[in-house]
Amino acid sequence: MNVAVRYYTRSGNTKKLADAIARRLGTQAESVEKGLLERADILFLGCSYYAFDVDDAVKEFIRENKWNIGRIALFGTSAMMRSVYKPVKKVCDEVGVQLLTDEFHCRGQFWKAHPGRPNEEDCRNAADFAGKVAGL
Ligand SMILES: Cc1cc2nc3c(=O)[nH]c(=O)nc-3n(C[C@H](O)[C@H](O)[C@H](O)COP(=O)(O)O)c2cc1C
Repeated sequence: MNVAVRYYTRSGNTKKLADAIARRLGTQAESVEKGLLERADILFLGCSYYAFDVDDAVKEFIRENKWNIGRIALFGTSAMMRSVYKPVKKVCDEVGVQLLTDEFHCRGQFWKAHPGRPNEEDCRNAADFAGKVAGL
């Protein structure tokens, strides 16, 4: 099974999870700026909330790479929200990409809120989540 890890980040929080997930899966995490050159049976896609939405770069990535995406498993960080499922699901439905309901989401540092998050435990939990989804 082919897996890939892509993320969008502004302050590095989501990249921390992406790197931990990629390490567990034995692959490399890349920014959503890097398209999928081959099909990913499971794409682990990391994104966060900015003013109650995910960044347009994430939506564009899904639209532009839809032919190379089997299923998407989401992970991410945010200050208050508990999931990015809803805005991503909207795009997935638009372009016919399957989105898994299982998702990993944790707190991410935002100014003085949630310092140090995601922390080591968050990264371990994200990696465990990915291992389970990938059947490792
Ligand atoms: C401009 C901006 C807007 C944000 N808006 C939200 C929001 O609407 N809801 C929320 O829970 N967190 C919000 N946050 C907090 C981020 O989602 C959080 O810090 C996240 O961990 C950032 O991840 P990143 O470092 O990977 O970009 C916002 C952060 C920024 C910088």
